[in-house]
Amino acid sequence: MKTVYLETFGCQMNELDSELVRGHLESLGYGFTPRPDDADVLLFNTCSVREHAESKAYSRVGIVGKRKKAGENLILGVLGCMAERDGIDMLRRYPQIDLLCGPGELDKLPMLIDNVVRTAAQASPSADDVQDRVALAGNTSRRSAALSATADDLETLDLARAFDPDRATSGVRSAYVRITRGCNKFCTYCVVPYTRGAEVHRPPDSIVEECQRLAASGVIEVTLLGQTVNHYRYTHGVAVTLDGREQPQIGPGLSAFRNEPVGDANLTTFAKLLARIHDEVPELARIRFLTSYPKDFGGDVLEVMASRPRICRYLHVPVQSGSNRILKLMNRGYTVEEYLEFTDRVLEVLPDASIAGDIIVGFPTETDEDFELTKQLLRRVPFKNNFIFKYSPRPGTTAIDRFEDDVPLEVKKLRNNELLTLQAEIGAAVHADWVGREVDVLVERITNRSPANAETASAADSRISLGSGLTSRSTASVRDPELAVQVSGRTSGDLITVFEVPSRVEAEQLLGTIIRVRIEGSGPLLLRGRMIDSAPAP
Ligand code: SAH
Ligand code: SF4
Ligand code: F3S
Repeated sequence: MKTVYLETFGCQMNELDSELVRGHLESLGYGFTPRPDDADVLLFNTCSVREHAESKAYSRVGIVGKRKKAGENLILGVLGCMAERDGIDMLRRYPQIDLLCGPGELDKLPMLIDNVVRTAAQASPSADDVQDRVALAGNTSRRSAALSATADDLETLDLARAFDPDRATSGVRSAYVRITRGCNKFCTYCVVPYTRGAEVHRPPDSIVEECQRLAASGVIEVTLLGQTVNHYRYTHGVAVTLDGREQPQIGPGLSAFRNEPVGDANLTTFAKLLARIHDEVPELARIRFLTSYPKDFGGDVLEVMASRPRICRYLHVPVQSGSNRILKLMNRGYTVEEYLEFTDRVLEVLPDASIAGDIIVGFPTETDEDFELTKQLLRRVPFKNNFIFKYSPRPGTTAIDRFEDDVPLEVKKLRNNELLTLQAEIGAAVHADWVGREVDVLVERITNRSPANAETASAADSRISLGSGLTSRSTASVRDPELAVQVSGRTSGDLITVFEVPSRVEAEQLLGTIIRVRIEGSGPLLLRGRMIDSAPAP
């Protein structure tokens, strides 16, 4: 049987896709290895969002090309958004690639691998054989591709997710759950609506069941995924049912959000979905969601969050620019004033909420004045962090056709660095606000072992390496000898928190549990604290 190396680029959606692909292939008998050198099937699950993401994947493709040239018998598959965006042309340019599989076709991957194995055995593969190695939505129209995505195939992959009972005992007790595929927004710079297709919403019952099964296998935190999660809506009684099961449904036009029918029993809105998951899966200690769109985010969602403590106080709600002129060219559909009205509303209802965002610098025609407005916006909102990107023109998008990429790279870099510095100041103030308070931290990893206690620590568990900690120190001279190991995790508001574990407590036992921590210090990106209770919460 084949051994697979699977590497993932890009967003959380891709991470989830990779997990599903892995589960699917494992159920068919494939083994997996974390080392590319040990594999005979190499799969890259790729991202197209910026050129940089694509170059990283292409350099990996190059390395595999060399190995193949040197005579190694390998299968190379490119999955995900790059496969969908570049299409079959990629096979011509990179003959070392054996198969292409778009993000909407991943259920077909095992068949593609089989086809490659079969045709490799033939003396001279025909043009038809090439078709047999490619599964992309691209050749169908957007609507028919969306319709086929609502058919059961892809849904089966989510439904057939492997529920690993080992999770209950390993530190990994956090999982992604898809609620919506695709995107209907068409921001002018963005490839996602082309690579992931039209918005399709999964039936609420399937989502709730998936959460229940994950919880039964030990998961205590789920993150619901969609490009614009607040656009989730499912109308009951109209969709096709198969064997009594509701099927995924194409999203409505954006106008649907202007006249929200309050109390419509036939409609599951995002607010209702959140409430259902919270109420019907009590084992979940934390429910998160990504990514929120600053428009069409109803007060109903904030009310559900406020009344349900296990829904995390965290919103990732990208603003992209602080200039109304640029927002318009981006086709974002809101103004700076509307964005601020939204974040003010969030903080009024949920004063402890953390807000994070994304910013693009150097969008075509962005002037110093536009950039100044972005800085003003950053100073106005208490962002815990912002992911800052330099505009990257993407083939196939409206922006690349309509606007010249006229902000020089040097200027993009300067603006990028300036925003990073400003965001570090804002982040430092946001984190400093938490000093003196107590927070609940879901412990995710061991970040550092003290050299003074390394012996005991490594004797306790030799599998865990002496990692480079977030705040690692080189000497043990000023340390409390009682404190041996440093761990890190996140608060409900997604604030990274590091704290040291008294030597009498096994750090490994804390992984995947929620610990109460008193915050004693902070930095631009994290909180530092002290563990309050030594026994992990059940
Ligand atoms: N659906 C999410 C974002 C998905 S893409 C939303 O709308 O908020 C993640 C981020 O990548 C975007 O928020 C944007 O900041 C950035 N991005 C997307 N396309 C880009 C491009 N062409 N150049 C630079 N950054 C881009
Ligand atoms: Fe891209 Fe805009 Fe859709 Fe986000 S909302 S995925 S930025 S098109
Ligand atoms: Fe990249 Fe596709 Fe995600 S382009 S950001 S992997 S949706």
